[in-house]
This record gives sequence, C-alpha cells and structure tokens, in this order.
Amino acid sequence: MADQNPSEVTMDKIVSLSRRRGFVFPSSEIYGGLGSTYDYGHYGVLTKNNIRELWFSSMVQEREDMVALDSAVILNPAVWEASGHVAGFSDPLVDCRTCKLRFRADRLEDAQCGRKPSKRPGEFAECDLTEARQFNLMFQTQVGALQDGSSTAYLRPETAQGIFINFKNVLQIARRKPPFGIAQVGKSFRNEITPGNFLFRVREFEQMEMEYFVPPDEAEEWYRYWIGQRLQWYVDLGLRRSRLRVREHDATERSHYSSGTSDIEYLYPIGWQELEGVANRGAFDLTQHTEHSGTKLEYVGQDGERYTPHVIEPAVSIERIFVAMLVDAYDEELVGERERTVLRLHPRIAPVKAAVLPLVHRDAAMVTRARALFEELRRRHMTEYDDSGQIGRRYRRQDEIGTPFAFTIDEQTVEDETVTVRDRDSLAQERIPLAGVAGWLEDSLERPWSSPKGD
Ligand code: GAP
Repeated sequence: MADQNPSEVTMDKIVSLSRRRGFVFPSSEIYGGLGSTYDYGHYGVLTKNNIRELWFSSMVQEREDMVALDSAVILNPAVWEASGHVAGFSDPLVDCRTCKLRFRADRLEDAQCGRKPSKRPGEFAECDLTEARQFNLMFQTQVGALQDGSSTAYLRPETAQGIFINFKNVLQIARRKPPFGIAQVGKSFRNEITPGNFLFRVREFEQMEMEYFVPPDEAEEWYRYWIGQRLQWYVDLGLRRSRLRVREHDATERSHYSSGTSDIEYLYPIGWQELEGVANRGAFDLTQHTEHSGTKLEYVGQDGERYTPHVIEPAVSIERIFVAMLVDAYDEELVGERERTVLRLHPRIAPVKAAVLPLVHRDAAMVTRARALFEELRRRHMTEYDDSGQIGRRYRRQDEIGTPFAFTIDEQTVEDETVTVRDRDSLAQERIPLAGVAGWLEDSLERPWSSPKGD
C-alpha cells in the first residue's frame, strides 16, 4: 500500500506536467510564442478526443431527442447583428498609459501591473489608467478579395448561433417536435482582453453546445433538468463531487439573452470558476433571427398549434473540462522512498488505456507474446508498447499520463501463459491468463470508477 503524501495541486504543476509529457505545448514557441495560445501534443489530442466523444455520446448517441450539426465558423455578419453580439458582446477595457498594458476594468483585482514589484493596476503612483470603454470580443476578418466595410465578417464567438439559424432545416428535414435538441462541437474564437490560467481562458477554444427547444411553459422544468444532467455527467466521469457546485446567476450577472443562468463551477487552483453554463435563453434567439431574416422560426403543429420554442442551452469548452480533469486527477505520493506523480483520470478519459511491457526486451519468447498482445489490444483501445528502461521507470511514465492498466510479460508468462496486471491507482498486481487480457480490459474499462482521492 502506498504512503499518502497529499500535496497542493497548483496550475504550475499542471502546466509543467502537460508540457513534460506532451499533452500541451505553448504555441509558436520557436517564434517566441503567442500569449495564451496552445498546441496539443499526442496525449492532449487523445484526451480531448475522449472528452468530445463522451459528450457526444451522452448528448446525441444515447438519446432519441437530439440531432447533430456542424455549422460554418464564418457566418453571414447579419447573424451577429441579430444575435446582439455586434452591439453587445464586449468587456470593459482600460489602458495604462504608463506601462501600456490593457486590463479588464471589471477584473482589476485579479490583474497585475506591468511595473515591478507587481501590484494591482492603479496602485502605483505612476499608474495612469484610462476611462473604461467597451471592447468587442469578436475577431474580425475579411471575406473575399475586397477589403472594405462590406466584406467584414467575424469568427464565431459561440457555436450556438449556427444552431439557431438552422432551426428550420432541422425541424423540416429531421421532422422534430419540441422538446428536441441540436448539438454541435466546434471551434469558437474570442479576443479575450486578459486570457490566462493555462487553457482556462484562451482566445481559441472548442465549444460543445446544445440548444434544446421546448414549449414555452416547459422551459423552467427543462432548465432544471439540464442542470441536473450535466452535473451528473461530470460526477460519472470521476470529478469529485466536493469540487463541483451549481451557482445561479442573479439578474445583474446574466447575459442579454438569458432569463436564467446557472454555472456548474469547479474548484480550480484559481478558485471556484465556471466550468459549464446552463442558460434559459427563452425565445430571444429565434425571435431575433425571425425579425432580422424575415424567415419565421417557429413550431407549427399538425393541429395548427403555433409557437416560438424556448431554448435551454448547456455550453462548455473542452479546454475547461480538460483543465478540471487534470487538476482533479493530479496526485503526488511517496511509494516506499520514491515520489510518484500520477494522473488518476477516469479510465474513459485517460489518453492511453493500457501499456504492454515485456520485462526483458531481448528475450524473444517474451517479446513475441508482448507484441501479439499489443497488436490485439490496440485494435480496440489506445495501447502503448514500451520495452525501454527499468520496469519501475516504465510504470512511472505510464502513471504520469494516467494509463490505468499495465500488463507485464515476464519469465512466468513464458512458463504458464499468465501476465501481471498493475493497477495505476492502488498499485495492486494480480496475475491473469494472457488469453483473457482483452476481455479483462474491456470489463475493467466499463466498470464505474470514482476517484481514489475521495469525493
Ligand atoms: N453560447 C453560450 C456561451 O457561449 P459562455 O458562458 O460565454 O456562453 C460557454 O461560454 C462556455 O464556453 C463556458 O462555460 C466555458 O466552458 C467556455 N468558454 C467561454 N469562453 C472561454 C474561453 N475564453 N476559453 C475557454 N473556454 C471558454
């Protein structure tokens, strides 16, 4: 049994592990980087794929009231006029005339002045802050060869509008009747004034949004339903319940379109912060697009019943989930004399599900069996074959990327066709028949899992 040595999980430790093990790299690094922009390496891609697939499977595949959509990133700019983003998707910005930095006026207490020793903006006698002005967060671009005002377009700051403008298509072609939802995953872009805290606030992120269209008198009930569903999804994927909470916005905090919003918050190293938002958007979006486009976006039943559905929207980015998962999973402990760093990820989130480790890489009988097992497992799951270095080091490498199971092929395997399975969390080892490993792994990945760090 391992000696527990719980230690604080800081964002720095998460950034350092992510970089060391190739989950996430600072982008454009050889050119000096581009503030708060990141590239995903091999394990980062695998983890992101798992998060996306699990979301899609619970939102679409396992439901009968949902269809998928993949709309364009650059839409007709009229969409953003109608949605209110051109006029109102902005944050208050102040410039410091002395240090030339820019800050969000409503977050000055979290910001640091450019002068050393760093203080809050405004706290030095030399600080010279401008009046706050509204700064629109949408990235502008030009469509086509002409570069005049008529060619101005925007990179979408949310995927949701692509869903609203396709409401009629889905209603007619997928023959849906409220309540039903449209789910979409894709990149969104925001020119955040103060991005930061690793992937928590970035300018380019992958949103997973679902717009659920309901009869107006059922909106409140579905709003509560989706808060419950989404919270449970995180618990089922192993996030500790004590690190999750639901916080309802008061009227002053809500977005212009919302008649009710709750954040599912996670206790990140930077404190309680929004992981996912669930909003009751009412009839705002369909009404706006009806008025601006001239196309009626409403539901008309066979009996002549007619109404503009209300919309419940759970919206999250893969980035926020990614950070929450790594923070929740990160652990350091002393095993004997040695410290080990381990990612206690839910096996379904873990980038690699199994490692196959021949004890002696020059032993032909071991290698033959190990390669055959590797070939068998990799057909179904991400599996790694590692034959380099001491076995302890190989286990440590797998621990750091969160591989839940390692199968070691040793002398005894050659004698009796059994292998050792090592459990990442408990470090327990047991022997099982080589021929049964694939089935054993399948069953183990299906089993409910909860964090050994507690609830
Ligand atoms: N369609 C509604 C909408 O976009 P939002 O609260 O602005 O609402 C939804 O964003 C989710 O998108 C957030 O809960 C968060 O998970 C994610 N998100 C928003 N801005 C982000 C950013 N700059 N970096 C990473 N994730 C972000």
